[in-house]
Amino acid sequence: MAAGLYLPCRAGFEPECAAEIVDQAARCGVAGYPKTDRDSGFVRFLGLDSGSQSLLEKRLSWRALIFARQCLPVFAELLEIDPKDRLTPVLAAVAARGQRFGDLWMEHPDADEGRTLSGLARSFGNALRGGLRRVGWLSANTDLNAPRLHVILLGGTHLLLAHSHPADSSPWPQGIPRLRLAHDAPSRSALKLEEALLTLMSEQERSRWLKPGQRAVDLGAAPGGWSWVLARAGLQVSAIDNGPLAESAIGTGMIKHHRADGFRWRPEHPVDWLVCDMVEQPKRVAELISDWLVQGDCRRTIFNLKLPMKKRYAEVCQLRELMMQRLHDAGIELRWRARQLYHDREEITVALVPAD
Ligand SMILES: C[S@@+](CC[C@H](N)C(=O)[O-])C[C@H]1O[C@@H](n2cnc3c(N)ncnc32)[C@H](O)[C@@H]1O
Repeated sequence: MAAGLYLPCRAGFEPECAAEIVDQAARCGVAGYPKTDRDSGFVRFLGLDSGSQSLLEKRLSWRALIFARQCLPVFAELLEIDPKDRLTPVLAAVAARGQRFGDLWMEHPDADEGRTLSGLARSFGNALRGGLRRVGWLSANTDLNAPRLHVILLGGTHLLLAHSHPADSSPWPQGIPRLRLAHDAPSRSALKLEEALLTLMSEQERSRWLKPGQRAVDLGAAPGGWSWVLARAGLQVSAIDNGPLAESAIGTGMIKHHRADGFRWRPEHPVDWLVCDMVEQPKRVAELISDWLVQGDCRRTIFNLKLPMKKRYAEVCQLRELMMQRLHDAGIELRWRARQLYHDREEITVALVPAD
């Protein structure tokens, strides 16, 4: 048996991450089973022979997953290692793999238990980096053309060794972008839209699709974090909310506040972007966004779907089906990209963007 996949996710969302990997693997013709503990912050996908594992490596991209922040093929699991000498078994496992790596990332699950391992990850990482370089299994400088080695600490004596290719894996350790909230951001929610723009689009796509001078509508805008992010990118924003906007949002001079119901307000002319962060039933939001697109009021969109219910993966699949069917019937070709961002709590963020 192969050592399976390691999928880090938001703590508490392991059932969704597990349901999703079973479903997505089945779509690739691969059967396996998920193994996880509640609130551990990760899922393992096991029961794969080496053929199935390499098939998933080829066919299943982490980008297609909503609840997993990363999707790593594991090549070794080390259990009950001696805390006085962790280096020897790891060097042996890397040597057995026989592959030279271009970078080393030390990781641990983003959950209460996992976080206690961050000090060890740092100190062991320093020792391991030196050890690997001495024997030639790690390049002297980061090489983004070579595979990356992930050492995942699951406990002081239990670790996984996994690999990824920098071009097809999350560019951040544990799939978590480290974004800093600007001092004048109107709300922490600003980070959500920043992360969505970074995660759901490539740099090239961003520069093609999001341009100064474009017009955007922000439904459920107060206190103005999302509007502020768009304004800073040079867009003219209509911010719809009965609540007040922060001074720093108004101060951009790019945001017009309309005190109105986001389910009723419409622009006089079509806009380039519709963004929506209203706390509402996800089905209502999905229908509203579909209406805007089908009626030609916006060209592309980023919105949140709040997921307070059980069976959240099934709900998301259903909503996606519903929206894509409506767009298809209207002859609109947009691509659905969705992710539970690091800054998302009980919600996911979806982008509907051009197909090319
Ligand atoms: C999570 S907050 C939005 C935060 C905002 N994205 C930011 O970055 O600061 C949700 C907002 O949705 C607004 N909202 C909820 N239902 C609404 C509706 N029907 N019409 C307009 N705004 C609504 C609330 O007033 C609230 O300000």
